[in-house]
Parts: sequence; structure tokens; C-alpha cells
Amino acid sequence: MRLLILLSVFITAALALALRPHQQLAFTKPLDDLFATDWHLFRHLGGYSPWIPHIHHKGSQDNTIKDGELPETCTVEQVHMLSRHAERFPTVSVGLKMKQLVRRMRDEAGPEIFPFLDRWELFFDVDEATGKSRQLEQLTVSGKYAGVDRARLAGEKLRGIYGHLIEQQDSNTSATSIFSCSCDRVVDTADQFATGFFGNDTSFNHVIVPDRDASRGGDTLTPVKACTRYREDALAGRPNSNTMADLYKLSYLTPTAERLRQIYKSFEFSVSELWTMQELCGFDILATGNEDSPWCALFTKREWEQFEYARDLLHYYRTGPGTPYSEVMGYIYLNATSQLLREGPEKVGKIFLSFAHDGDLVPLITTLGLFEQHTPLPTTHAVDDRAWRLSSVVPMGGRIVFERVSCTSSSSSSSSSEQTGVRLLVNDAVTTIPGCHSSTSGICPLSDFLALVEAKGAAVGKFEDVCGLGTGLGRRPSFLHHGGVLERE
Ligand SMILES: *[C@@H]1O[C@H](CO)[C@@H](O)[C@H](O)[C@H]1NC(C)=O
Ligand SMILES: *[C@@H]1O[C@H](CO)[C@@H](O)[C@H](O)[C@H]1NC(C)=O
Ligand SMILES: *[C@@H]1O[C@H](CO)[C@@H](O)[C@H](O)[C@H]1NC(C)=O
Repeated sequence: MRLLILLSVFITAALALALRPHQQLAFTKPLDDLFATDWHLFRHLGGYSPWIPHIHHKGSQDNTIKDGELPETCTVEQVHMLSRHAERFPTVSVGLKMKQLVRRMRDEAGPEIFPFLDRWELFFDVDEATGKSRQLEQLTVSGKYAGVDRARLAGEKLRGIYGHLIEQQDSNTSATSIFSCSCDRVVDTADQFATGFFGNDTSFNHVIVPDRDASRGGDTLTPVKACTRYREDALAGRPNSNTMADLYKLSYLTPTAERLRQIYKSFEFSVSELWTMQELCGFDILATGNEDSPWCALFTKREWEQFEYARDLLHYYRTGPGTPYSEVMGYIYLNATSQLLREGPEKVGKIFLSFAHDGDLVPLITTLGLFEQHTPLPTTHAVDDRAWRLSSVVPMGGRIVFERVSCTSSSSSSSSSEQTGVRLLVNDAVTTIPGCHSSTSGICPLSDFLALVEAKGAAVGKFEDVCGLGTGLGRRPSFLHHGGVLERE
């Protein structure tokens, strides 16, 4: 009997090892299972996870249609995508905090208190005096979540869906253009994605629009950098988001500091260090592919949910509905895209791929009214049934796609009529457009969509007025067309 029990314990253990061989390499025993199917860490990393598809959240009102499929009578005839860059390293400012924290833990406590630090290595180099680094700010390059590979694979995946729109080029027709802002990681993402999308032998023009260029005004992919008043308004603009996020971090991480102090022999972490430790978890995974990062295992599921809330709160007040500048910033891309959807594939072309930052996608979500949060997010506690959840909306490589679809309805057998509509996809999930009477498959009639966007334009006001820009600057993206010249050196 005892032998049998032992044997079965042995078999169970062997099975567990076979299923999750990397568990053996864990540095720290996790407090909770962070990678279960019904609770997965990546859905709580607030934008610091590898790309994940969007899914409908239980218990919260969102606009996702389950299993949305394009009806067989419909075809996509034009596609527009706005994508965040792929998996990246931390920014310089975050990377410097990480390096300082790890050094303090090594110097002041050492491997006796933090045994996992013995075998763990910082995944980037940075010169602390100058902030110079070959990795920080750039796409990750190794491991299973290497951004350089994942951007190309995302392009290949979308080629599988939209490949029929790629037009044959002869030597005299100009190549299709792609559009990105000018930050290296975004430029690299666009190039990799386009290589996957168009294939290795089709050329494309890469139009690079400067992230910051005061003279362009609203002629930009990065309205959050162009809107002067938003950047300066301490009460309602960008600076307020840090104030709000800091208040919440203080409230949820103070008990965590105490919890860890008990475990780690009175070693005191500041709230800002604990935040850095949670950030280390996501970036360690992005840079190395190691899901058993010791930084993840230090926190409980609940602490990850609180981290997620803090990131949602930051997005909410930084570029979401918590700032009155968001809608007018999101309107820039929405209006430009709606004009192209109106004009149609024959006139303006079939494929419009644009690349920018999460801070440029969130305003678009706000302007569309997606994931509408009816009460502002408080800084005192996490609202668990909120609709505003962005972990699977703007993860690394997050993308928002508009399709112009053409459907044949043959209700009467003699005459069939063509109908044109718009479908919205958030990280591959078909999503209804608030304010539009969409079909069960999520298709909003084109004329309704155009009317909706026009009405929003009147409601959000003029970019140059709301943002306090001088006269004579650009008002809308002038570059979103094909046949442009290669702007790259
Ligand atoms: C391309 O344009 C040039 C100059 O207009 C012309 O001589 C040539 O025949 C064209 N080639 C093709 C393949 O149409
Ligand atoms: C393009 O080239 C890369 C690297 O040489 C290769 O891995 C990939 O399979 C190629 N893709 C296509 C569509 O030919
Ligand atoms: C939307 O774009 C159209 C075409 O470029 C332009 O005429 C219109 O003024 C824009 N609307 C707003 C509110 O900016």
C-alpha cells in the first residue's frame, strides 16, 4: 500500500516535471500559481506582457463579440492598422532604477537574504552616468518573446488574413507605404512587420513621421507629443497621471512592503522599489523568455491584480478618459482613417499599416468610447469590476484594426445587393463600435460609421484649439497615402 502511494506520488511528480520542465529552474517558490489557464499573469501585466489576444472579461461590460467571424458573404477590401511597437526592453529611466535596486539588494543584503540574486543577472547594460545602453528602449532580441521576431511573425499572421489585398507591383507603380513614428523601436517594428506581411521579395516605402516636431501640429501619428497644453496642464493633462498613479501605488504597496520585510529579514523596500520589482518581472520575461523570473514569484496574485489596476489607472488619467485631452488626440487618426474608409480601396489603396506607442492607441480607444468606465477610477482601492482593463488591449505589439468589408446579400434570389461596412478588431477580437447598430458579426454600416465619426468631430473640437497650438500648423495626417517617396536615408 505504502509503495503504491509512493509510486503514485512519484508518477505525479514526474508528470508535473514533464509538463512544466522549466519549473525545475525556478529560483524562488512562487506564492501562487501565476500561469494557470483561468488566471494568467500576462493578463495582469498592464501592458508589460508579450502580445496576447484580447478576450472578453468576465463580469465586466466590454464590447467584444465572442467568436466573431466574418460572414461567408463578406470580403475585406481595405485594412487599417494602428499598432504599438513589439516587445521591448525598459526605457532608460526605468532601467536605471532597476540597476540601482539590484545593486542595493546585492550590496546591503546579499545572497543570504536574497538567494535568487546569486543566479540571476540583469538583462541589459547601461552606463549610469550617461544613460547610454545598447538594449534599453529597443526591441528585445532573444528568447521566445524577442520583439524583433514577434513583429515579423505578427506581419506573417496578418498576411494570412489580408494577403489578398497585397497588390502586384510592376516596376513603374509605386510600392505600398507603411507609416511609423520615428522612435527606433517603432521604426524597427514597422520594418519587421512589413517584411513578414509583404514577404521578402516585395518592396515597401517606409514613411517615418517625427515623434516630436512642433512645426507639424496635428500632422502626426503621435498626437500626445504634439498637444502642448495637454503636456503642460498639471491638473488635467499628462502630469496628473503620475500624481494619481503614485497615490494608488502608495496605498497598495505599503502592506506589501511590510509582508516582504517579514520574509526578508527586515530588509526595507520603498514603494518605488517595489514598483520597480514588479516591472522587473514583465521585462525579465520580455528580454529573456524566462517565465520563472524570480521577480514575478515574489508577489501574490492579488498584488499582480493591484499592479494591473495601477497600470490601468495610469493609462486612464494619462491618455484615457481621465484626461479631457484624450478624445481630441484620438480623433486625429480616427478621422484620417474614416476619410480613407469613405474613399475606398480603388481610389486610395487597400492597406494602411501604422506604428506608434501605447500612448497613441489609448486615445483612439477613448474617442471610440470602448471599454467605457462610468465612474472615474479611484486612487484609494482597486475597482475589480471595471470595464477599463488594458492588459490585453495595449500589450507589446497591441493593435487596433479597421476593416472595410463588402457583403453581398441575396435576400431576393433575383437581385443581390452590395453593402459596405466597417469592422473593428482589438488584438484580433471583433469589437462592436459604440453608438453604431452593428450586425451580429460586428459589422457597422459604412454610412453609420462615417456619420458617427463626423458627429464626434463636432463634439471633440479642433485639435489646434484644444491643444493651444499656433496657427498655420498641420491639422491632420498628410502622409497617410500611397505613392509617397521613401523618406528614409
Ligand atoms: C515605365 O515607365 C517608363 C518611363 O515612363 C517607360 O519607358 C517604361 O516602358 C515603363 N515600363 C513598364 C513596364 O511599363
Ligand atoms: C523571409 O526570410 C526569412 C529570413 O531569411 C525567412 O526566415 C522567412 O521564412 C522568409 N519569409 C518568406 C515569406 O519567404
Ligand atoms: C476630418 O477630416 C476631414 C478630411 O481631411 C476634414 O475636412 C475635417 O475638417 C476633419 N474634421 C475635424 C473635426 O478635424
